[in-house]
Amino acid sequence: MKVYGRGGLIALLVLLAVVFEAQGDVKRIKLAPGPSGMETSQIGLGGLHFAELQASGGATALRDLLLVALQNNITLLDLADIYAYNTSAELVGQAFALQPGLRERFQIVYKTGIVFPDAPVQYLDSSGQYVANAVDIALAQLGTTYIDVLMPHAPDPLLDATELVTTFKKLKSEGKVRYFGVANYPPSKLSLLQAAMEKQQLSLTTSELECSVLTPTALFDGRLDQLQELGIAPLAWGPLGGDPLAGVNRLFNFPNGARQGRILAALQEVATEMGPDVTTDQVAVAWLLRHPSRIVPLLGTVNAYRLRWQAAATMLHMTRAQWTQIMGASAVSQYRRWEQLNDGEWHDVANDYQKNTYGSPLGVDVPVGFCDFTSCTLPVR
Ligand SMILES: *[C@@H]1O[C@H](CO)[C@@H](O)[C@H](O)[C@H]1NC(C)=O
Ligand SMILES: *[C@@H]1O[C@H](CO)[C@@H](O)[C@H](O)[C@H]1NC(C)=O
Repeated sequence: MKVYGRGGLIALLVLLAVVFEAQGDVKRIKLAPGPSGMETSQIGLGGLHFAELQASGGATALRDLLLVALQNNITLLDLADIYAYNTSAELVGQAFALQPGLRERFQIVYKTGIVFPDAPVQYLDSSGQYVANAVDIALAQLGTTYIDVLMPHAPDPLLDATELVTTFKKLKSEGKVRYFGVANYPPSKLSLLQAAMEKQQLSLTTSELECSVLTPTALFDGRLDQLQELGIAPLAWGPLGGDPLAGVNRLFNFPNGARQGRILAALQEVATEMGPDVTTDQVAVAWLLRHPSRIVPLLGTVNAYRLRWQAAATMLHMTRAQWTQIMGASAVSQYRRWEQLNDGEWHDVANDYQKNTYGSPLGVDVPVGFCDFTSCTLPVR
């Protein structure tokens, strides 16, 4: 015990505790057809919150979490340069350094292109030079020679697809990047980049987007349809309704919200139907896994117990009726975007959300989850 200290002891106890939990069954998945089809796990681990482990052991704690992920057959690791302001990848590198061979057991997704928020104007940069430089920084921070999947983090309005693909090609031939994807792209921009890639004998491997029972917009605005058509499996961030900036979960932290309350009640009802130990978070994950586009939920927890627990959602079988019941609870009438939050006030959440996450400097125009179940209409802004 002396060697690992208190964090190690706690991690060991957690490990012992989870050994007796119900097993999950996380399967392998080929993300895309053909040579761009990287194989990985059907559930991924999101690194947005890794820096929180600094308070409880840092790299050692992260190493332990990564080992729990592997035990559960989770090998996809989702990272970005701006996570924890340029410190997250460094922490991952330190965790890898603690155990030889650990890095090679993971497939690393790495996003770049949202310029760090210390500049007065936060903008997107998908220029070849910016992206190539970011890759070199990432390789140094992670202590590795390659990234598995590189992605522009958001759709840059100044995207020069030909230039970016030239850089992709170079990074691939140098062995620094194996596959390429996009994040938060609307269908038109995905098509634009995919077309430019195909001219260079490249093809997209995956597309990362927000998707959850709280924010199911990708199901209705054409993004999942396009990916299903291309045979490309999406990676879903915020699979439990997490918010990258607010630091709270917009579903589970607001049980008194009118819409959230409805969704949570539906999740609970289905959980009860599924079995005595099934929980609402597992059902929310199972809801994503039930979709035929082969959504890969990126679990954002840094808690080993929760990671294992939520990954066990792979064992759940959800009927069409159950899936639809949850979808129905999530739907709101066409133009409504007000939600009553815990403070009892009504908030224009769509508007807040747009401002917080996709404020105009980022140039992203992704509607939030305000679709009518039968006819999706984009929110009025
Ligand atoms: C890991 O994969 C193996 C082989 O497919 C499977 O038998 C096992 O149940 C999986 N474990 C978990 C926790 O998903
Ligand atoms: C991020 O950290 C690396 C060192 O690991 C440094 O070279 C780079 O300039 C940093 N980026 C920003 C935007 O601070």
